[in-house]
Amino acid sequence: GDLHVIDHPLIQHKLTLMRRKETSTKNFRQLLDEISTLMAYEVLRDFPIHEVEIETPLERATGTAIDGKKVVFVSILRAGTGILDGMLKVVPVARVGHIGLYRQPKTLVAVEYYFKMPEDLAERDIVVVDPMLATGNTAIAAIDRIKEFEPKSIKFACLLTCPEGIDAMNRAHPDVPLYTAAVDRELDEHGYIRPGLGDAGDRIFG
Ligand code: PRP
Repeated sequence: GDLHVIDHPLIQHKLTLMRRKETSTKNFRQLLDEISTLMAYEVLRDFPIHEVEIETPLERATGTAIDGKKVVFVSILRAGTGILDGMLKVVPVARVGHIGLYRQPKTLVAVEYYFKMPEDLAERDIVVVDPMLATGNTAIAAIDRIKEFEPKSIKFACLLTCPEGIDAMNRAHPDVPLYTAAVDRELDEHGYIRPGLGDAGDRIFG
């Protein structure tokens, strides 16, 4: 699918701070929140707009609006929560879905333990969020499940990925555009992105 690397200086600066091992849990969480708000701006760039009639203090005019309620942010637990909060700041009326998935330590296969979506996914535009796209197993499994409900559109937004994750997503879901703040060098034998930032869930939640 389309790959969008959001290489804005503000995002790159904050991401570099997040990578540093001495960055505290509190600061890591705060930085992820800020980056997510900035990323939402790019992820929603092509969101449908419509005209609305308004009155300024001086005259009638035509304005622009979006239907924010049509947006569903789907957070992949646990770490997706860190992105969700930042994106909700700019689309506060968006709906929210949750999928719980963990990677089996040996096989790195994604195992689902929770699934809850809002009503009427068929009328909605979905943005799936998770800080890391590593092997891609988690994101692919999440999108497989969401596609069962035939939503209008699906995008995937993460903070970090690697060539292996992008390839896996392109094979499994070539129709899903991918948004990321960076594409790192490689996936290591333990399924970690290198140089990366460590385990996102552990760094957000401790
Ligand atoms: C991490 C991360 C992604 C997943 C990415 O979650 O937050 O969900 O791994 O890896 P993949 O692309 O190889 O599937 P983890 O399984 O550690 O669970 P957690 O968020 O609950 O810590």
